[in-house]
Parts: sequence; structure tokens; C-alpha cells
Amino acid sequence: MCGIVGITSFQNVVPRILKGLACLEYRGYDSAGIATIDDGNFEVRRAVGKLKNLKDVTHLNPLQGNIGVGHTRWATHGVPNEINAHPHSNDYVSVVHNGIIENHAELRKSLENKGYVFVSQTDTEVIVYLFTEYLKEGKEPLLALQSVLGDITGAFAFAIILKQNPDVMLVARQGSPLVIGIGQDEMYIGSDALVVSLWTDKVIYLNEGDYAILTPASYQVYNQKHHKISVEVKTVEFKENAVGKGNYNHFMQKEIFEQPKVIGETLLHYADHENFTTKLTTKADWKNAPRLSIVACGTSYYAGMVAKYWFEKYAHIPVDVDIASEFRYRDGVFLDKGITLVISQSGETIDTLMALTLATEQKQQTIAIVNVPESSIARLASDVLMTYAGPEIGVASTKAFTAQLTVLANIVIYAARQRGVMSLTQEKELLTDLFTVPGLIMTVLQNEAEVHKIALSLEKADGVLFIGRGTNFPVALEGALKLKEISYIHAEGYAAGELKHGPIALIDQETPVIVNAPSNDKWFEKTLSNVQEVVARGATVICLVDVIGQQALEANHIPNITLKMPMCSTFVAPIVYAISMQLIAYHTALLRGTDVDQPRNLAKSVTVE
Ligand code: AGP
Repeated sequence: MCGIVGITSFQNVVPRILKGLACLEYRGYDSAGIATIDDGNFEVRRAVGKLKNLKDVTHLNPLQGNIGVGHTRWATHGVPNEINAHPHSNDYVSVVHNGIIENHAELRKSLENKGYVFVSQTDTEVIVYLFTEYLKEGKEPLLALQSVLGDITGAFAFAIILKQNPDVMLVARQGSPLVIGIGQDEMYIGSDALVVSLWTDKVIYLNEGDYAILTPASYQVYNQKHHKISVEVKTVEFKENAVGKGNYNHFMQKEIFEQPKVIGETLLHYADHENFTTKLTTKADWKNAPRLSIVACGTSYYAGMVAKYWFEKYAHIPVDVDIASEFRYRDGVFLDKGITLVISQSGETIDTLMALTLATEQKQQTIAIVNVPESSIARLASDVLMTYAGPEIGVASTKAFTAQLTVLANIVIYAARQRGVMSLTQEKELLTDLFTVPGLIMTVLQNEAEVHKIALSLEKADGVLFIGRGTNFPVALEGALKLKEISYIHAEGYAAGELKHGPIALIDQETPVIVNAPSNDKWFEKTLSNVQEVVARGATVICLVDVIGQQALEANHIPNITLKMPMCSTFVAPIVYAISMQLIAYHTALLRGTDVDQPRNLAKSVTVE
């Protein structure tokens, strides 16, 4: 997902724009750039690769200016190189853009026929020449912007600075988020509130179709009908060093270790810690809902898979869980009074957003679990439940996942109570379990030395299998995703009972198999026999077990590497065991020297299809 930052001020903006770009790095990118207007001329610096390369360029060839825009590009159209990096400029305007201009090809052809010469492979460049064409026709900047917005289709957020009006910044939002920050004699724009919060706590979230004109001392927002609108100015407060690593080496490490606090804070928001009852409510009518559809991507999808077991066991409601990119096109069946629950850390994942749009069109009751307030998904859903995990910067989702499970557990309890199938006693039992999770996570986090040894056994592996049964199965899938996305080792998660149906052919002496096996759930015995099957074929088995599970392994003479887990209830085991999945991936990636926080090819939020 690209990142945009901009400032119009009465003083030099370059150092702060570079700082803003650093705050946007987590979104994932492969090139970066900055443009200012200095003494009536554009100054543009761009570089492929990490932000350091851009900073080196600006040191070698310094620039300044009281207005500027910056961009981190995650390539969609055109390879990652300097030519395709943003900002894209000519002698009139300089543009940074996030999203996709769907009709860029036909616009490019028509502009080329008018004599414009494109230098990049990007869709963004059409905005430069479209805008220029309208300026040449004598249109004022705002009217030129309106005309451009009438020409382009797709999902975009962009910012434009103009040589002829060196203090004016024009911005527009259609399908990709854009935030305005209000400063003292300066204005800011950013792809998210996190970046503008570097300089102000007063923000405006542009709505779909909104556009705005900014100067250092003023802003005016328009809606897609071109009417001037007054918009609510919100106050954001990010905990100090929300965008810093603190004493940690990586954001991912910091976020793994924040989980006791995050789960505790999320729990306190949704549950009463004195009576052990949930405080969560939803507008959705669970009593009469015939079915629940859970839709998400990646790690968030695995949270939904865990929740399926919980909803069906405790709330007795039929549940479908879908990957958002499949749900959108499956021509599924929507039942009257059905509930669709979407899960998204960023609240911007385009497939999940479009799935929510479809459910809304099908008159489903919709609920969104998100970690970013005011995100596109949060603004569309009729019920929004926050995860209170704080900004998650590492591309690999960790604290958001366990916070999602915490919220889901509370929704399950609420739904079960609404459906009259859970007693107050059971509610108290489950919430008492949930309140033990922060302490259990603290225990697991003390396992790092053991985890490091396991990582050593994985470092050179060509492939790793993760297996589990019941709610341990989605955790196995999550463990495989964590490992593959940050260490680049091929990893697969399987239902342990599925091995015999094919995957066991993968097993040989070189194949590490990681097993999630809490001893006190109904799947333990069967999982143990699956472990014996793979051991018999020479696999190196790494068992995540508690002390009773360890005794069972010894009694059955099953050779394995054991990662000792604390005793915990079946209900909370997915949350607790996920921590070990995260640590195993993190330490293995460290050994392999990969970019833990910004793994290759990945973006923190996938806002393009
Ligand atoms: C998880 O570690 C990955 N970064 C990725 O699978 C992520 O979970 C997925 O893209 C969904 O993102 P979202 O929760 O922001 O919608």
C-alpha cells in the first residue's frame, strides 16, 4: 500500500516530510520520493529501494521549500525504479497518488494524442497531464481538479502541488484513505492519522468523493457534488512512541511483547473484570440470525476460523468463514436477517472492504472488527468493534490477531447470551479464562531462549509443516503464514487429521513438523497419534505442549523438541499458542537475516486488488 504525506507551510517542510515518510514505511514500499516548490520551481528527488536511499539523494542534492509532498510507492503499474517512483511532475504540477486509476490506459492514449509524452509506466502520470491540460485551458486549480475527478475512475487518494500557486495543495479521496491535519499556520495531509499525528492532534478524515484545497492558513473541503462542506475535526491521541520501536530491535518484536497489555486493555473495554460479564453489545440481532458469515484475509481470516468453532459451540449459530477475495465473487446465498462479520487490522484491505460492500448491498447486518478508527471498513459497517491494539507497524500481524480473538470471544459470549444458550455461570467461566490470558502470554514470552533453539532447527529447512486439530488448526495455519511471510521459508498448516490424505507424503528426515497440542482439549489424543505417524516417517517434531502433554509424549516414547506451554483452557489456547507461533517466526527470520518488519513483496495493508 503506497503512502502519502504533504505539508503546506510558511517554513521549510523537507525534514518533516522525510520524517513523515519514515512513519509510512510500515505500509510496505519499494521506492520513495519528495517534491517541493522552492523559489517558484519544482525540486524533485526520488530513489528506488529503502527510504535511506532517498535520504542519501537529498543529502547529496539538498532541496527545500515551504510546500512539499512525499510518497512511498508499492508498485502496481510499472516496475519499482526511479522513473516510476512518485512524485510525478512536469512544469506545472507535481502529484503523489495511492490506489489505481482504472481507466488510465484510455486516458493515456488520449493525452498522447494531444502531444503529451509519458516517461513512466505508471497510471499516476495521467493525473499530471490531465491537470495540466485543464490549467492550459485557463481553469482555476479547483475547477481543474473537479474536471480531473470527472475523468478518472478507480480507487485513489492523491495530492497535487502547483507551480503557479506555490502555497496551494489540492487533495482528493476516492477509495483510498486520506487525512488532513490542522496545524498552526500550516496544514498537513497523510494516508493515515498516524503520520499527521507527528505534527498535530486535530485531523479531518475525508469521506468518499471528498476533495479539498489547502493553504498554510486555510482549508476547504468539498463533497463529490462539488458543494462546500463543513467537516468534523477529530482529536487523535497516539500513545507516546506509537511509531517508535522503543527498546526493541523491530516493530514486530515490540508488538509481540505488547500483547499482555493489549489483551488486557481490549478486555477491560469489553468485559467487566469484577463480575466477569461481557459489556460488549452489537446492534445486530443475534437471536433471530439464521447464519453468521465471517469474512477476512490472511491472519484476520485465521482469527475468523477460530471464531467459527467458538460461535458454533457456544452460540449454536451456523457459521461460514470465507476468504474475502473468494466471498466477493462466489455468488453466495444471503439469508434474511443474516449477519456478516468482517475482520481487518488496517480497515483498508480492499477485498474485505468490497466483501463488506456486497454484504451491505445484500441487506445483511454487518459488523466490523478493526484496529484503525475511521478506516474505510469502520466507516461502512453498521457495527464497529475496535481491537485497541494501538498502531501495528510490523507487516506481520501479531498483537492485532490476539486482540481480534479477544474481541471475537466477547462477541461469542454476547451472541450466546442473546440466543439464550449460555448461562451466566458459563459466561463468568469463559471470561475468567479470558482474564488469565495476559498472564499466560507473559509466561510464554519468557520462552525466548527455547524458541531460539527451535529457530536454529528451522533456519535451513526447505519446508515446514504446522499441524493442529480443532481451534489449534487455524493457529497452525497462522504459524505457517507468520513463518513464510517473514523468513521466506515455505511453510504449510494442516489439520492434523488431514495428513494421511496426502500431505504426509511430504514427510522425510528433513521435514520439521510443528504441533500445537494443548493436553486438556478433546483433540489431544488424536493429535498425539498424528505425531506418531510423522515421527515413524522420520520427521523432526516440535511439540508445543503443556506439562501434561509433555508427560504423554514421554510415556509414548515420542522423540521431539518440546516448547513448554502453560496450562490453559481450551477456550483461550488459540490466543496463548499464537504467541509461540509469532516468536518462532520472528527468531527464525532473525537467523535468516530477512527484513522482519517489511518483508519483501508485502504491504501492511493490501489496498489494491
Ligand atoms: C498477516 O501477518 C499479513 N500481514 C496479512 O495476511 C494480513 O493479515 C492480511 O493482509 C489482512 O490484513 P488486514 O487484517 O489489515 O485486513
